[in-house]
Amino acid sequence: MNERAAARKETNPTKGGLDLSCVRSIDGVNLRGKRVLVRVDFNVPIENGVVADTTRLTRVLPTIAKLAREGAKVVVLSHLGRPKGQPTPDTSLRPVATKMQELMPGTAVRFAAAPSGADAKRVVDALKPGEVAVLENVRYHKGEEKNDRDFAESLAALGDLYVNDAFSSSHRAHASLEAITDLLPSYAGLLMMAEITALGEALEQPERPVMAITGGAKVSTKIEVMTNLVSRMDQLVVGGGMANTFLLAKGFRLGASLVERDFVATAKDVMAKAERSGCDIVLPIDVVVARELKPGADWQVCAVSEVPAGGMILDFGPESVAKLKRWLSQVKTVLWNGPLGAFETRPFGEGTFALAREVSRLTRSGKLISVAGGGDTVRALNEAGAAEDFSYVSTAGGAFLEWLGGAKLPGVAALARSGSRTR
Ligand code: 3PG
Ligand code: MG
Repeated sequence: MNERAAARKETNPTKGGLDLSCVRSIDGVNLRGKRVLVRVDFNVPIENGVVADTTRLTRVLPTIAKLAREGAKVVVLSHLGRPKGQPTPDTSLRPVATKMQELMPGTAVRFAAAPSGADAKRVVDALKPGEVAVLENVRYHKGEEKNDRDFAESLAALGDLYVNDAFSSSHRAHASLEAITDLLPSYAGLLMMAEITALGEALEQPERPVMAITGGAKVSTKIEVMTNLVSRMDQLVVGGGMANTFLLAKGFRLGASLVERDFVATAKDVMAKAERSGCDIVLPIDVVVARELKPGADWQVCAVSEVPAGGMILDFGPESVAKLKRWLSQVKTVLWNGPLGAFETRPFGEGTFALAREVSRLTRSGKLISVAGGGDTVRALNEAGAAEDFSYVSTAGGAFLEWLGGAKLPGVAALARSGSRTR
């Protein structure tokens, strides 16, 4: 490890000034007959009206089952998608409630067609101890994203206690995550405790060298975090659409590839900062290119310097994957968020899947600590058959990255504040 890396190691990027010891767990709390509002993250992919990936449901199930078993009337709050204060057909939580009922056959799971108001109250009032109600998307109310006190009060009226088990939503200062903690005794659910414990351990003192793999299309939402990451990581792999903007910044011509021209200057800044802090930015050297993004489209592999006009970069090429494997053999810890390519469309998942299998192989043989997060990432790891071998798989995407970047997550901070008030 170089000197700069050693100096960095002493900084603690993860707590963001939070005293996590103030966060109270639900263990040992008397829940019998209490209406417990539990904020979860059911922001899951829905395809043809059916939940397409149940990971976030199964991960929060132990909390909901524990609350029900201990005699609480469980009122589940979540958002899904970004409906901006209005119901939309593809953002209803109804399919999620249906899936929850399938996953909890012995427990009555009701659904309320609104997150607050008369419809929600009727369903909650009818709950018996041990039953569960899933309320409709909290983002159908404009007050949610505004962290509005009145909306938080209308939610709080439905419960006696509040539990946040949505680590993956806790980077949002929204009413059901933050404002509500001023109104009800507030606790962390089992998944929240597991996330902050596991990520805290992996990130405070990672075994070095430590590599972050970032990917996905959302360049604009990740570049700030990348700025943070380069000062903490030894390597930063940039994949997905984000890589294109970096390649553009390096002067490559990328045909019809997705790029964010407005972020070329930011990409240059990130690269300069990486250079100063001794972090290697790893970009693809060859890519898989096609003229259209559809299953079975004609594709070719070319060097990043030879992307044809009209061609779109859709995945890392085999040389790039081989290069990543060589890097991986040198590192001790990997933090992964975001696929390398358009993995949902065959054959553009091969780069992501090959890398996932290599990380899982190295983890299985005890050579690597691997922590991954993000809905898409988890889905890709599952498709590659690799998720089970990872050291820890977080349910969080954006929250995972912000935590990794050292940000104080409003939802977690609110739990710590609520806990410290009662000390
Ligand atoms: C997620 O899925 O990353 C979280 O639920 C947050 O969703 P958001 O980015 O729409 O706030
Ligand atoms: Mg998200």
